Amino acid sequence: MLRLPASISEDYFLGKIWQQSPLLIRNALDTEKIPCKSELYSLAENDAVESRIVRELASAPFWQLEEGPFESGFDKDFGESRWTLLLQDMDKHLPQLTSILHLFHFIPRWRIDDIMISYAADQGSVGPHVDEYDVFLIQAHGQRRWKIDTNAIENDNLLPDIDLRILRQFETEQEWLLEPGDILYLPPGVAHWGVAEGECITASVGFRAPTSHDLLEGWVGHLLETGQAERFSDPQRPIINPQNAAEISPDDIDSLIECLNSAIPQGKEAMAEWLGCYLSEPKPHLYPDLPESDCDLAVIAERGIQRHGFSHLLYRRADNGITLYADGESFQLPLELAEFASMLCNSESLTGNDLAPWLQQETVIELLEALYELGSIVSEPRE
Ligand code: SIN
Ligand code: CO
Repeated sequence: MLRLPASISEDYFLGKIWQQSPLLIRNALDTEKIPCKSELYSLAENDAVESRIVRELASAPFWQLEEGPFESGFDKDFGESRWTLLLQDMDKHLPQLTSILHLFHFIPRWRIDDIMISYAADQGSVGPHVDEYDVFLIQAHGQRRWKIDTNAIENDNLLPDIDLRILRQFETEQEWLLEPGDILYLPPGVAHWGVAEGECITASVGFRAPTSHDLLEGWVGHLLETGQAERFSDPQRPIINPQNAAEISPDDIDSLIECLNSAIPQGKEAMAEWLGCYLSEPKPHLYPDLPESDCDLAVIAERGIQRHGFSHLLYRRADNGITLYADGESFQLPLELAEFASMLCNSESLTGNDLAPWLQQETVIELLEALYELGSIVSEPRE
């Protein structure tokens, strides 16, 4: 659990703070699981890790972005101060961060996007900016001064000629010096600027909020990929006056709309089923590796299973059953397996003993085999 102030329960946080106002929480968690500088430097050299460096310059364009991976000794190029290394999706790459993610499980798992970790040299920052998602800024090591402005920001208040969305003007409304263990929660849209005082490491738990256009793009893409196209036809066409040949008649509009609607399943069930697949899809470069050997149930029964670090396991209850989603795929289960689905999706690992009561059921065996084949679960402990 997060160590929230005595006056703020998780319930109060969700009702009164979440998506509404910033909150500084002093001494909210233990940060020893958050990696130190040398571990972050090695991750910056790894081409499987999305990394970038933001550097402040003394003259125009004032900010520079470089994308990783970086070569060993890269920090020599950046000097002693005013730059930040940012590493995305650290929760996927570092199993030790699972316990940090679990602190936020009073918010549904699908809403969490990733844990980004930044190492900043003295005075390092990514400039004043606005994020479009909720974020918990966890001060892991060293100190960082955060300044915020909750006033609305004009769309044109951006520095020109850079690949970064940095505000041209920033007025400090409130500021705090964060120490290790402190958290600053910011709802979307609050301008913020965090500057390291000495070297520091910050972990940001960022949330996911698709736009209506993201959802539309995904849903239409899915329908085009999986649906059968109906072609417009008009076997009973009434004759028209040649002078009106250029008119699109109301009847034709109705028939065209009918044709369009035939591609969209009616009722919410099909959309709900697809949403589970969509929400469980990993980012394109973060799919679990496929297993090298076939699934061996005896090994699973003995050693248990672990969720692959990249894998997303979610589930949904409907009137007639459970759908379990793993990395964009869906599996139908009977309602009697609701407890099993919940246990599987809410745990990082299950022992042979946890699994034993369920392994008599053919559906469970088939599900575990399918998840193993997908790479979503493994039967070797992760390092
Ligand atoms: C950082 O860690 O330097 C930046 C995090 C943020 O502003 O969202
Ligand atoms: Co930000």
